[in-house]
Amino acid sequence: MAKIQIEDGRVAKPFTVGWDPMDGVMDDPDNHIQRFLSKLTGMFYDREAAERHLRQHGDVLLYEVYEKKIPEADGELQFCSSITHPGKIGDEYFMTKGHFHARRDTAEVYYTIRGTGYMLMETEDGSQFELGEMLPGRTVYVPPYWAHRSINIGDEPLISLPVYPGDAGHDYGSIETAGFKHVVVERGGKPAVIENPRYGRMNEE
Ligand code: F6R
Ligand code: ZN
Repeated sequence: MAKIQIEDGRVAKPFTVGWDPMDGVMDDPDNHIQRFLSKLTGMFYDREAAERHLRQHGDVLLYEVYEKKIPEADGELQFCSSITHPGKIGDEYFMTKGHFHARRDTAEVYYTIRGTGYMLMETEDGSQFELGEMLPGRTVYVPPYWAHRSINIGDEPLISLPVYPGDAGHDYGSIETAGFKHVVVERGGKPAVIENPRYGRMNEE
């Protein structure tokens, strides 16, 4: 298959890319991001459970992303293979960091290929939130201005195809410091939403 070529670092040529729907591994990616627990203990509401998990199970891989290099320009579309692994920290499911788009007025769609989960979406002041079902064949629409995070509630990898504007960018700042106001936990064998007891102070020890 044709390889991506970027002319002048700005305009992409047409290309195709394949990936394995079972493990989400992309053929010939330009970038492979892996996020491990040791760097993200502070993102879970039960930080002690995260430290304990790290001691007992080592530095587990929470999620990963494979992507092609596409110009970060208006009119382009970014896409990737997003893989959130199954597991829990205490009673909170494995999830992505989550972010706002640096350009707030940009939307995103996520098409789920494998697994079961939720897209947690929140407005900037945390006053509104929504859970979008992530199931094979379903698409979640994330409107502009909403923070979003994928959460794996099943026992297989949650693999999705996010597509978003070329110049959307990522803003992790407020998620790292304030967090999401809501978290998805397992209660009585089922997912439940609770308020984040560390909302507003995720970066405190
Ligand atoms: C891009 C997007 C996804 C995520 C990916 C990893 O706007 O929403 O491609 O970047 O699922 O999650 P984060 O970026 O939260 O680490
Ligand atoms: Zn996004």
